[in-house]
Amino acid sequence: MKPILVVGASGTVASELVRLLRARGQNVLSGTSRAPTRPDQVQLDLVRGTGVADAVARAEAAFVFAPPGHVDQHALIAPFVDHAKRHGLRKVVLMSAMGADADPNAPLRRAELHLEQSGLRWNTVRPNWFMQNFHTFWLAGIRDQNKILLPVGKAKGSFVDARDIAAVVAELLLRNDRDDRAFDLTGSEALDHDQVAVLLSQVAGRTITYQDIPPAAMRDGLLAAGLPAAYAEFLLVILGFFKAGYSERITDAVQAVTGRPPIRFAQYAQDHRAHWQ
Ligand SMILES: NC(=O)c1ccc[n+]([C@@H]2O[C@H](COP(=O)([O-])OP(=O)(O)OC[C@H]3O[C@@H](n4cnc5c(N)ncnc54)[C@H](OP(=O)(O)O)[C@@H]3O)[C@@H](O)[C@H]2O)c1
Repeated sequence: MKPILVVGASGTVASELVRLLRARGQNVLSGTSRAPTRPDQVQLDLVRGTGVADAVARAEAAFVFAPPGHVDQHALIAPFVDHAKRHGLRKVVLMSAMGADADPNAPLRRAELHLEQSGLRWNTVRPNWFMQNFHTFWLAGIRDQNKILLPVGKAKGSFVDARDIAAVVAELLLRNDRDDRAFDLTGSEALDHDQVAVLLSQVAGRTITYQDIPPAAMRDGLLAAGLPAAYAEFLLVILGFFKAGYSERITDAVQAVTGRPPIRFAQYAQDHRAHWQ
């Protein structure tokens, strides 16, 4: 039996997916854009397009997503889907983002449509903003200034734990009873960033607060952190959607697919407290 290919296997969601698949006895081929250091790895670069055909040829099914930093997700995903079709993969599961289906011309929606119309069996997961952002992307402000610095006002987000995303994807890859469907993945509660700050303060043992910043200050911070200008603008647009309330919606997809409720923010904070202590 060929393995399941997991693109970007060292990533936040994908690394947990690899762990879950292996725990269920599944053979996994781990995609990396770097030189492989282990026999279970395969070099595959979605941006350059190198290694994709060979990696897909070795797999029976695949999980794929566009790595962060790129705004034309269609250009990265469509060739992968075409190779998967050519090699007759059993199924491809795509990680997109909640709201991607709002605009049929958006590159991420075009990537979704390319998969949906490929003739392959497919699933798309559209997660809301990850809880994990608070110990990755937004960590610097928390660590250096005790502040969550974001331009999102008092809007709420039904943040989802990346471990729940991986659990849903594992089910979708291993079963076929929900094929050809998309799932918007959220947590079970919507919190604003003042509430998030309280929960992080409780586990950090010090006071962390939320500061609503102007988009221009956010842009400066993203550029200073080295993000490409086009991706910084993309993030500002989707943070604007957050501020407008589009990230508040709660779905039951995690429970429906995995059979258990989503991980709550307080649990995420407890499990990752070392990052803020
Ligand atoms: N963060 C959020 O709140 C959020 C919300 C909704 C949707 N999403 C979506 O989630 C995805 C990101 O997921 P994540 O945070 O789990 O990923 P991640 O942790 O950023 O990991 C991405 C992985 O991709 C690999 N990679 C980098 N460049 C690559 C390339 N050119 N070709 C192939 N692989 C490459 C890297 O591994 P190597 O270095 O080994 O190659 C890296 O570990 C994005 O598509 C984003 O739109 C994120």
